[in-house]
Amino acid sequence: MSNVVTDEKIPNNVNLSSDRRLQRALEDWQPNFINWWMEMGPEGFQQDDVYLRTAISVDHEGWANFGYVKMPDYRWGIFLADPVADRTIGFGDEFGKPAWQQVPGEHRNTLRRLIVTQGDTEPASVEQQRLLGLTCPSLYDLRNLFQVNVEEGRHLWAMVYLLHSYFGRDGREEADAMLERRSGDPDKPRILGTFNEPCQDWLSFFMFTFFTDRDGKYQLLALSQSAFDPLSRTTRFMLTEEAHHMFVGETGVLRVVQRSCELARLDPNGDVRAQGGVDLDTVQKYLNFWFSSSLDLFGGEISSNAASYFASGLKGRAKEEKQEDHVALTGTYRVPVMKDGRLVDEDVPLRAAMNEILRDEYVYDCQRGVDKWNRTIKEAGVDFELKLPSKRFNRAGGIYAGMRFDLDGALISEEAWSAQRDRWLPTDADRAYVKSLMTRPVYEPGKMAQWIAAPKQGIKGTPLDFEYVRH
Ligand SMILES: [Fe+2]
Ligand SMILES: [Fe+2]
Repeated sequence: MSNVVTDEKIPNNVNLSSDRRLQRALEDWQPNFINWWMEMGPEGFQQDDVYLRTAISVDHEGWANFGYVKMPDYRWGIFLADPVADRTIGFGDEFGKPAWQQVPGEHRNTLRRLIVTQGDTEPASVEQQRLLGLTCPSLYDLRNLFQVNVEEGRHLWAMVYLLHSYFGRDGREEADAMLERRSGDPDKPRILGTFNEPCQDWLSFFMFTFFTDRDGKYQLLALSQSAFDPLSRTTRFMLTEEAHHMFVGETGVLRVVQRSCELARLDPNGDVRAQGGVDLDTVQKYLNFWFSSSLDLFGGEISSNAASYFASGLKGRAKEEKQEDHVALTGTYRVPVMKDGRLVDEDVPLRAAMNEILRDEYVYDCQRGVDKWNRTIKEAGVDFELKLPSKRFNRAGGIYAGMRFDLDGALISEEAWSAQRDRWLPTDADRAYVKSLMTRPVYEPGKMAQWIAAPKQGIKGTPLDFEYVRH
């Protein structure tokens, strides 16, 4: 069992008090984090009691501790999964050698970049979601939003701990910069595109937690294979928290879809909007947007960076232990590429295709959720099927960027794109409509907004009319 200390300023299971310099450096960073949280965290709820889970250890049973907390008093801590005895590197050129407990000099810059890129997404999503509480569909959803927010804050702590402990002055500067960038700010934006997109309504929030947090899951799975053992242990514990974020997304969209079907039946013309719900065409457009944007986060389809991360043991595949060949020097992976204006299958050396391999695992995982939504639609007797668009649709990064593809992935002209775009992606009018459903928050325990079905059950065995947030 790991040794947990919760009575220090910074709860941790890394024996922080044994390293006074590190402890002091992190305690100096702490007030800056709180200032950032007060400025960029959930607006309008900082003094409320929220029924939250707090990680107090990494044990199977003990880690999720539920109780009322005011968010600024949340005990953001540093928790690493327990070490695996004699862990060895699971892939790449160093396969089978002992995992690293320190950062090798030759990988220092690359590792720091990987950690900063992951770390930057954590506060970014809190910033994107900071106004959503003011339009919440229920106290249950409000609490889930805040749970996601405080945990993204803890994930930032996780990455900042690595930067402070292993990267010296550069690491401390990067940790400071993490609190200076702002989602969507043209002068000092967050690093990755999707994390600068506005997320101003709850349908976007559910799509974000389903699609974008799931990208996070796959990045964390790949990093949890890392030869740099502290990174592996940190990300392994983050994954246990991340599961809840995707639950919020999957069930959130499911409840919107379920309600949409109910409202279609209530209306003589099957007009969901007339009944104050989100029609499935609009759900599909939001899905198209957040899915395609999240696909960009995986990086280029054919990537020498990905190849070298794999070769040097920095970043593996999602489920490396299930692979047979951990060196990946011989195989290939099929990627459709553009040649002379046509799509042609190309067999890409396996290592160079690592981003695409991770992306495909992600797509497969997304499909499972979409299947569940479709089952709900079918059970309601509505004739509609939600679909993931082609991986080529609406991409801003990678080999398909700068070209136009339809939902099925066929290359189309700019004119054809312009003619169809508003049928495929949310228009200003769609966004305004979705927002118009959410102008007034629902703060009454147990009540749900018109546009969303109630969840199947409450949090941690509580009844649905539990006062999850005392507002
Ligand atoms: Fe996270
Ligand atoms: Fe997350």
